Amino acid sequence: MSKSGTDSSTRRNGHNRTGILVRKARLRDAEQIAHLINHFAAQGLMLPKNILEVYEHIREYVVAEDETGQVVGCGALRLMWHDLGEIRSLAVAETAQGRGVGRRIVELLLEEARELGLACVFALTYQVPFFEKLGFRVVPKAIFPQKVWLDCQLCPKRLCCDETAMILVLDEERTAAGFKEWARFSFEGVGAGDKAEAVA
Ligand SMILES: CC(C)(COP(=O)(O)OP(=O)(O)OC[C@H]1O[C@@H](n2cnc3c(N)ncnc32)[C@H](O)[C@@H]1OP(=O)(O)O)[C@@H](O)C(=O)NCCC(=O)NCCS
Repeated sequence: MSKSGTDSSTRRNGHNRTGILVRKARLRDAEQIAHLINHFAAQGLMLPKNILEVYEHIREYVVAEDETGQVVGCGALRLMWHDLGEIRSLAVAETAQGRGVGRRIVELLLEEARELGLACVFALTYQVPFFEKLGFRVVPKAIFPQKVWLDCQLCPKRLCCDETAMILVLDEERTAAGFKEWARFSFEGVGAGDKAEAVA
């Protein structure tokens, strides 16, 4: 796949045969990104974002736009450690779901993760089957370094987080080394059993 997340069926204007173009976000997309995320946040499916947060982190985002230029999907890659990134803020409008848009967004983010030299990426999610389809596997939350949990301090669910942690390994050897290193900086609120399982 090319940098723009398109494939061999790409038309001249960059939109593939489904009419959807997946590309890096621009500042002019920020309002539609915030709107999309907050639509699903209102259903408790993801955390809300204000427009300022989206502006600040716009370089992390990719978007899917339809042929009218409407943003119908978004996702972001946040760098968490020298070898670890998080796929976050993934959302596809109901009207565009089930057409491979979520997959294309994640694939473009993974392309970026590989180019940056990340060993592994993770997601905290309620959408386990979707991420499994993309090769992610479930892991105990305790494996991640403490920095991962900084955002959670503001989350209303911080004491009863029911999201599932999933990772996709890009480099086996460096991820195995990462597990051991992250354990030294890991989340104090999670049981030792989880930690032992994570690094075994
Ligand atoms: C989860 C979400 C991003 C998926 O986007 P999508 O564009 O509908 O997904 P895709 O069409 O790319 O699906 C990719 C694969 O995952 C599968 N899949 C997607 N959602 C699924 C689900 N809920 N259960 C089982 N399989 C699912 C698809 O069948 C497809 O499989 P295939 O490649 O074998 O055909 C979208 O449903 C969404 O935005 N949901 C609401 C917000 C949300 O929960 N975001 C996630 C926050 S981490």
